[in-house]
Parts: sequence; structure tokens; C-alpha cells
Amino acid sequence: MTWEELEKAAKACRRCALCETRTNLVFGVGVRDAQVMFIGEGPGENEDLQGEPFVGRGGQLLDTMLEIIGLDRRKNIYIANIVKCRPPRNRDPLGTEQEACIGWLRAQIGLVRPRIIVCLGRIAAQVIIKPDFKITQEHGVFFDVDGIQCTALYHPAALLRDPRKKPDTFVDLKALQAKILELCPDTYKRS
Ligand code: URA
Repeated sequence: MTWEELEKAAKACRRCALCETRTNLVFGVGVRDAQVMFIGEGPGENEDLQGEPFVGRGGQLLDTMLEIIGLDRRKNIYIANIVKCRPPRNRDPLGTEQEACIGWLRAQIGLVRPRIIVCLGRIAAQVIIKPDFKITQEHGVFFDVDGIQCTALYHPAALLRDPRKKPDTFVDLKALQAKILELCPDTYKRS
């Protein structure tokens, strides 16, 4: 399937009830052959309205975090979510909604073919890395999942709620930068 076919099919998706309340399906943003992919949980209100991941306050913080290690959503990474439509009142996506939606993300990962995946928050890490992933204990640790180096950072919304987590995230970002320089330094040649 091509990117165009995948995006068109996703945007017509009615596999779960979230399609009834969405304004926009939030497909993904960034460089479609990036070597580093970021995966969030699901769209919030601003993302639903604008059709792009991480555009609210959390998104601004994410952009700052990316900038610290030379990453940019329009230049050298791809960003998508576990679920593509906003859960009402920003509740966690249900297991059934995640199951209905995950095929779209798996197809995106298949097209991007990243060397590194960075999960944002516990929910993404439990889907991508392992079901019992503990974000407070395992953030910043790299796991080999089917040949892809996968790690998780605290979700930007969690950092906004509890800024005391920011120093840990800075350490994790520097470790991520080192991993990128080791595995896919060309990431930094893209501008
Ligand atoms: N939180 C997420 O996990 N994803 C978004 O796109 C926005 C907020």
C-alpha cells in the first residue's frame, strides 16, 4: 500500500465509535522515510480541530524537547499516535479502540521503516514495547522490538502536570541523541 492509499483509507475509517465524534482523523506528520519515529497516545482537542498530532500546549513542549537534540517534526522525524481519533473528554483510549486502530499505525511503521521508535507516555509504550511497561521505572531504556530500537519518554502532558520529571527527561533525550548518532547519524544531515 502507498502512503496516499493508506491515508485515504484511514481517513474513511469507521472501525470504532470514535469516528462519530471526531472533527478530523489525525493521521500523522513529518518525514515519511524518517529513521526516527515518535508515537503518542491519541489526539486531544487541538489535534482533533487541526488534524495534526501534538499541536496544543503539550505539542509546544514536545517541539522544544525535539529542538534540544536537533530534531524537527518537519525535517527529520515522523510523528503518529496509537489511536487516530480523539477520545471524548481526552479519556484514555479503550482497549477495543486501540485494537481497532492499531493496524493503521502498524502500516505506517511498515512504510517509514524507522531504526528508532520513541514512545511518548505509558500507553504507547505498553502497546509498542510490552504490555507491562512501567513508565516511571523504564523511561529512557532501549528495547529491541523486532529489530527496531524502542524507548519511551514521559508524555509531554505528564511533564506539564509535574515539571519535577523534566530533569529525567533531559537525561533520556541526551541518551536518545547518542543512540541516533550511533545508529542513524544521517538524521542530522536532513534539513
Ligand atoms: N497527546 C498525544 O498523545 N498525541 C497527540 O497527538 C496530542 C496529545
